[in-house]
Amino acid sequence: MPDSPHPAAFDDQAVAAVEAHATAALAGARTVEEVRAAQAEVLGKRGSLTAFNAALGSLPPAERKRSGARLNELRARLQARADARRAELEQVERAARLEAERLDLTETLPGARSGSLSLITQTQDALEDTFVGMGFVVAEGPIVESDWHSFDALNIPKAHPARSGFDTLYVDWGEPESTLLRPHTSPVQIRLMQSQPPPIYAVMPGRVYRKDTPDARHTPSFSQIEGLVVDRGITFGDLAGTIDTFTKAYFGPTINARLRPAYFPFTEPSAEFEITCSICEGAGCRTCSQTGWIELGGCGMVHPNVFRAAGVDPEVWTGFAFGFGIDRLAQMRYEIADMRVLADNDLRFVTQF
Ligand code: PHE
Repeated sequence: MPDSPHPAAFDDQAVAAVEAHATAALAGARTVEEVRAAQAEVLGKRGSLTAFNAALGSLPPAERKRSGARLNELRARLQARADARRAELEQVERAARLEAERLDLTETLPGARSGSLSLITQTQDALEDTFVGMGFVVAEGPIVESDWHSFDALNIPKAHPARSGFDTLYVDWGEPESTLLRPHTSPVQIRLMQSQPPPIYAVMPGRVYRKDTPDARHTPSFSQIEGLVVDRGITFGDLAGTIDTFTKAYFGPTINARLRPAYFPFTEPSAEFEITCSICEGAGCRTCSQTGWIELGGCGMVHPNVFRAAGVDPEVWTGFAFGFGIDRLAQMRYEIADMRVLADNDLRFVTQF
């Protein structure tokens, strides 16, 4: 109706057609981008609703008001529909993206094998089990330690030559040389005695650090398991019996243990704990420096000064302590000639355990 006072674009039919078209376009939009395009087509600067708006001006005032209100309602309705459709599609797109980016950690790549605990961890677990079976509890202490716990409390004063034997790695923290990576697990003895009254029957496994050059029997970081027994009337016989029982329980009947006199500032008397070299079964080889024996660690009766430093009365309590290298134990149990393979991550070695 070109001569109508109402612009043709304004009749109900035209408005309904625009609404139907826009509604269909929004419903048919498959992406957020398509929603945006449909929205622009109707609601945008050059959209059909905007064209209606321009036509409003030529209407008589009463009509203009009514039609304006209708147009605004339609605009709001279409806007809401576009928003709803966009939210719906965003949700779908997000879900699709998450699905595409999902990393399935349980999926095994062709040729891959599932991992396993390192041999050191397996050995530590087995040692803990053995000692728990013998009536010990398992305790732990910090790896970054004070020099007091690591040395002074263990009867190794500042200038003592034994202190340099530990080749300690110091940490840049506090007073110079006051904080360190513990060179042995013996400081945990002190912490344990400070934290609970005797009787104590405990083993304390963990990582230790020394400025050692790696060779067949040494690595600068290794694990030890410390043992501490504090009770009334404990003797060296109890220590020897415990070592013997442990060796038979862990290695079986073919490996023998022996104690040889040694010196440690924190035990008196002290001994070295050696077992038959499992690589050569005692005949002598490169791993045992042709001796037939492998030193696993040290032991002895807890020095009274250590008891005093930890607040335990040496007149009432006696005890023994020991400390073994876990890596060394694994080396002997699994007959590993060179212990550097324990840290090499060579699959040919790792997959055997
Ligand atoms: N801490 C000693 C070392 O690392 C071993 C040890 C522990 C000796 C307990 C005696 C008693 O060499």
